[in-house]
Amino acid sequence: MKPWSAEEPTRSPFAVPRGIPGRLAGRLMLRTNRQWDLLDLLDVREGEKVLEVGYGPGGLIRLLRRTPAERIRGVDPSPEMRRLAARPHRAETAAGRIDLRLGTAERTGFDDEEFDAVVSVNNVAIWPDLEAGLRELHRVTRPGGRVLIAWHGGTRPSRIARGLALPEDKLARIEHGLRDLFPTVTRRELPAFTVYSALR
Ligand SMILES: C[S@@+](CC[C@H](N)C(=O)[O-])C[C@H]1O[C@@H](n2cnc3c(N)ncnc32)[C@H](O)[C@@H]1O
Repeated sequence: MKPWSAEEPTRSPFAVPRGIPGRLAGRLMLRTNRQWDLLDLLDVREGEKVLEVGYGPGGLIRLLRRTPAERIRGVDPSPEMRRLAARPHRAETAAGRIDLRLGTAERTGFDDEEFDAVVSVNNVAIWPDLEAGLRELHRVTRPGGRVLIAWHGGTRPSRIARGLALPEDKLARIEHGLRDLFPTVTRRELPAFTVYSALR
């Protein structure tokens, strides 16, 4: 798989979590990727429908579960991550509140304007086609809804996250791609993330 932001294809188990290395990467991500401040920024309200793109081992899904969201949906291309992320939520999956599917940013499989909020954490840089992913996120967000895209960076990134931060020209490509689709786009620097918020 060749990410739009890289010169070469990647086989990193964090980008393509498969088999034992993928499961180990998933467990490490669960321990290290702290996402409370993203949840605050997303500000999920009573009865909302929320989609997470690239949920990985499901750290943010665990937090979304504690919000008043009516429906929590997710897509990720990795069957290993799907198993890991869905495991703690069997009852809510059976009840239909949580539904984690296989899919990608470019093809979520959801209907037009289905979500109040769409969020992607630490995967935008590994999508194969940035613009196709942004168009898809826009398509599934209702008018007035919001999209939040976060990537490693921010004001106090860990040593590992510092190495993964994107250069300004690549961040500018994300920002311009969003501005082509959404009327309002804001960039913020959280302690561990550079975050784009877009209002549809
Ligand atoms: C570094 S992990 C981040 C996972 C999680 N969001 C977190 O912060 O812990 C990247 C995830 O993106 C997923 N991914 C890879 N390509 C993707 C794509 N085209 N669309 C959506 N997710 C993708 C991978 O399967 C992996 O689970």
